Amino acid sequence: MARSRVALLVALSIFVSISGSALAEEFLVKGRVYCDTCQAGFETNVTTYIEGARVRVQCKDSKSLQTVYSVEAKTDKTGTYYVTVKGDRLDQMCECVLLSCSLAGCNSADPGRSKSTIVLSRTENGILNTLQYANAMGCFKDKPLPVCSQLLNYYLSDV
Ligand SMILES: *[C@@H]1O[C@H](CO)[C@@H](O)[C@H](O)[C@H]1NC(C)=O
Repeated sequence: MARSRVALLVALSIFVSISGSALAEEFLVKGRVYCDTCQAGFETNVTTYIEGARVRVQCKDSKSLQTVYSVEAKTDKTGTYYVTVKGDRLDQMCECVLLSCSLAGCNSADPGRSKSTIVLSRTENGILNTLQYANAMGCFKDKPLPVCSQLLNYYLSDV
């Protein structure tokens, strides 16, 4: 009786520590890639989202600056990508990089919005933080939409 109870406790504590460490060492990074139809440098209400854009999440060692982790993903229909990052990243600098816009007519990355730093720290205010939102990354449409000049006046006057 006592022995089986001990065995159960041991089994339980192994289970808890395995699931605990799996949680602590896995992050889900979520972000979006958009087509900046106004070449505005930011998202507007005529911005569209790109399916099939390629992104990479990479982490560099903060001392050696060597890339020690790299994983690629593609955006879905809503322009959203998800990347699962495994392992401890506390001493690393991680970022999302736009590799390719993959949309005819909207195929050049906005240099100001083609990278996004992400912080893969386990806790924020003591809470386990496994989902990280990356800033959206953008591509310029070759020719701005006709509505853009009016629209940008509206956005830029709103200071
Ligand atoms: C975008 O915003 C502008 C300014 O508020 C508005 O005039 C325009 O109708 C909006 N366009 C769309 C597609 O929502």
